[in-house]
Amino acid sequence: MSTTEQKKYLSDIHLEDYTEQYEKGYANADTMVFCGGRRTEALNGEWHYAVDQYDTCLRQKWYKERYYDEKGYSLPIDYSFDEWPVMNLPACWNTVSREYLLYDGSMVFTRKFSCQQTEGEEIFLKIGAANYLCRVFLNGEYVGMHRGGSTPGFWNITKWLRENNRIVLVVDSTRRPEQVPTENTDWFNYGGVYRDIELIRVPGIHVRDFKIALVPDGTYSHIQVKVKLSEPVDTTAILTINGLGIRKQLEIKAGEGAQIIDAEPELWSPENPKLYDIKLSCGQDEVSDSVGFREIRVENGEICLNGKAIFLRGISCHEESVENGKGLTQEERMENIKLAKELGCNFMRIAHYPHDERMAKLADEMGLLLWEEIPVYWAIRFEREKTYEDAQNQLRELITRDWNRASVIIWSVGNENADTDERLKFMSGLAECARKEDETRLVSAACLVDGAKNMIADRLIDYLDVIGINEYCGWYTPDFEKLPELMANSNPTKPVIITEFGADALPKHHGTITDKGSEECQAYVYQKQIETLRKINYIKGMTPWILYDFRCPRRTSLLQKYYNRKGLLSEDKKYKKPAFGVLQRFYQELKDEGR
Ligand code: GCU
Repeated sequence: MSTTEQKKYLSDIHLEDYTEQYEKGYANADTMVFCGGRRTEALNGEWHYAVDQYDTCLRQKWYKERYYDEKGYSLPIDYSFDEWPVMNLPACWNTVSREYLLYDGSMVFTRKFSCQQTEGEEIFLKIGAANYLCRVFLNGEYVGMHRGGSTPGFWNITKWLRENNRIVLVVDSTRRPEQVPTENTDWFNYGGVYRDIELIRVPGIHVRDFKIALVPDGTYSHIQVKVKLSEPVDTTAILTINGLGIRKQLEIKAGEGAQIIDAEPELWSPENPKLYDIKLSCGQDEVSDSVGFREIRVENGEICLNGKAIFLRGISCHEESVENGKGLTQEERMENIKLAKELGCNFMRIAHYPHDERMAKLADEMGLLLWEEIPVYWAIRFEREKTYEDAQNQLRELITRDWNRASVIIWSVGNENADTDERLKFMSGLAECARKEDETRLVSAACLVDGAKNMIADRLIDYLDVIGINEYCGWYTPDFEKLPELMANSNPTKPVIITEFGADALPKHHGTITDKGSEECQAYVYQKQIETLRKINYIKGMTPWILYDFRCPRRTSLLQKYYNRKGLLSEDKKYKKPAFGVLQRFYQELKDEGR
């Protein structure tokens, strides 16, 4: 090792602003690769790991594995990559061991893997999600980083790969005011690489993005296809849609192609989740997807699915289980959808951040409409440009990832922030970004009520297609009379979804209807809310807060014990509180009325 590098070995330890060097290689919406139908090689399984509270791996560059100086003298090292204990990834470290339950900070993960490369192919690393900052190192070199705790990161690692490799991931779950979300939320901050880690092999020229949907022109007879390749080449691609007898050649110019195809597909809906198998071949590359065709639009104050006005019978849901934290299993995702359907739902608000991509795929198959959201939650640093870039990138990654999912009908740009000038600029920018990325869906946000006027009056509404409103009459606003007053004071010109109402109830805790925390009180809040909301004709949906209890560090009362207890079920989903039946009966009445 040269003297310079040896000196650096020592100076690195005391480098103050050690993160600057790890800002390059930012995996973002523009580095994503379309994955549908691709063969992937999982790097899930046993990874060696260490808690790294002082970020010494980044400061001292452990990933360089410098063991000797230039004269061959051994250097003191502070890590033992392959002797560290192992953790099965993907996982939230908080649920892996009691000692890590409340750990916010950095952990280092490493493993070896072999990889045979074929001439001309490119190999991408995909990390489904790591909360919040993830830095990637391969064979002693810094590859790049991803920011954002719920969207995937993609890196082209071809140039760093060897036959036998060492990968190091440094994941930092620290909550920070400049991040999205900030350091203060009402849910648990799970840390780790908690969605799949995969290698994706693609030909040199490959499909980067592939979008297909019904053109929302009210005719249900035009399908739009957009293709983007990795290189600006002129070529053709072949699109086949099984079941529609479609096999079409698409012209690709400078790496991009777009076409509208006449077709009259059977329309997708929650009642008829019809999916078509689609294939796109382009040169040596081939991708596929399973897609439903449907149209969602707002017309005359109604939310219309395939031209028919609908009422969104919904429920809100976090991405969490007692056993696995945010790293849900497919069975747990399926259970959440089955419970929502048992409740009588056709709609779910998956809050407050992008859930695993398999949730929208399951909703496509099982027939459930979705509201998807980025965590622009409470007091974000709205004045900070880099914070806006982070939020916008998370939004674009979410839209790019789930664009072909028929179940997703609404992109939400955030939740419950005060109506200030900076916030309006920030969130209206996000709303316009969502519309630019996707003209086939509706844009919304969960807004606050104007408390002083007790009315719906958020300036962001001008930029939304549908107005989400969180109101807690009967709970945070104890006086139920405020609800009919709020409804009478408001005169929204767009459809309103009540995106949150509810009350805490510790399972099996009983009391009077005014005893906060009792099942009786929660059920009464639901009864009184429904009594008023069902009469308001500008309300076109609701997603009461929330399907089941969830971990929350802010909730420490005897009835809460570090859980938010507004669930209609207990946190293990084994116990239904009486309020479940109250909402279920209301939704059944709506279904009986054909809504
Ligand atoms: C807010 C917020 C939720 C929170 C809920 C509550 O509306 O959007 O994230 O959990 O209220 O206070 O329970």
